[in-house]
Amino acid sequence: MTVALLVENVGVTFGSFRALDALSLAIDFGEVRAIIGPNGAGKTTLLDVISGITRPKQGRVVFDQTTDITRASESAIAQAGVRRKFQKPSIFEGLSVREHVAIGAQAGFRRRMSETALQERIAEVIESIGLADHGERPASELAHGQKQWLEIGMVLASNPKVVMLDEPVAGLTDEETERTVALVRGLRRPDRAIVVVEHDMDFVERIADRVTVLHEGKTLFEGSMAHVRADPRVVDVYLGR
Ligand SMILES: Nc1ncnc2c1ncn2[C@@H]1O[C@H](COP(=O)(O)OP(=O)(O)O)[C@@H](O)[C@H]1O
Ligand SMILES: [Mg+2]
Repeated sequence: MTVALLVENVGVTFGSFRALDALSLAIDFGEVRAIIGPNGAGKTTLLDVISGITRPKQGRVVFDQTTDITRASESAIAQAGVRRKFQKPSIFEGLSVREHVAIGAQAGFRRRMSETALQERIAEVIESIGLADHGERPASELAHGQKQWLEIGMVLASNPKVVMLDEPVAGLTDEETERTVALVRGLRRPDRAIVVVEHDMDFVERIADRVTVLHEGKTLFEGSMAHVRADPRVVDVYLGR
């Protein structure tokens, strides 16, 4: 297994509050890793550090074994293939579904794609996120679940090496969640790592190879969802609530 993301001894403080406390973890290419834990555990902060939005006070983040991205800019990290869907969908008013995916596709490649290649890529992505019949619709008209898928599509369009999804099924109906399970499973590839922050444990169980439980900025437990459910400390700080 090759390590896609190595987070080593990372510390983040906001004033005197320790959001991440000497946190270390390694995520392999080919796996779907879920990050779970109570509100305030540091899950979003971890994604912020990996994507270059928050600078850690200590520690480092290494992408693909050799590329230290700890102090790289947000755009350099995205350009390297480490991509993120945020917790809240950010849809551009007035742009269609197709135009959103085009933005994602163009953002991912240094050289401009040919028009034909771009159109093919867009069609492929729109199909994979289940919006094939909605390409020309203004994205603002989509249902909440469809907006979440569109955001995943924008990330996907750039052919990323690391995909980070922050709460992809929050607020979705059971049927939409079901479709998101299939979508996330379809994203996995031997040369890609997928990191999912989520509170829906049934969803996590169905998509994740391994689960990291964060608590107060540290790893409380790491293992399969079955082991996570059986761990008394995890039940105590999170699942039992
Ligand atoms: N920019 C910030 N300034 C101050 N405190 C922050 C900031 N970002 C996050 N925090 C605090 O850090 C803690 C961890 O937040 P977060 O990573 O968002 O948790 P999670 O995603 O696990 O719910 C929370 O207590 C939050 O209030
Ligand atoms: Mg969060």
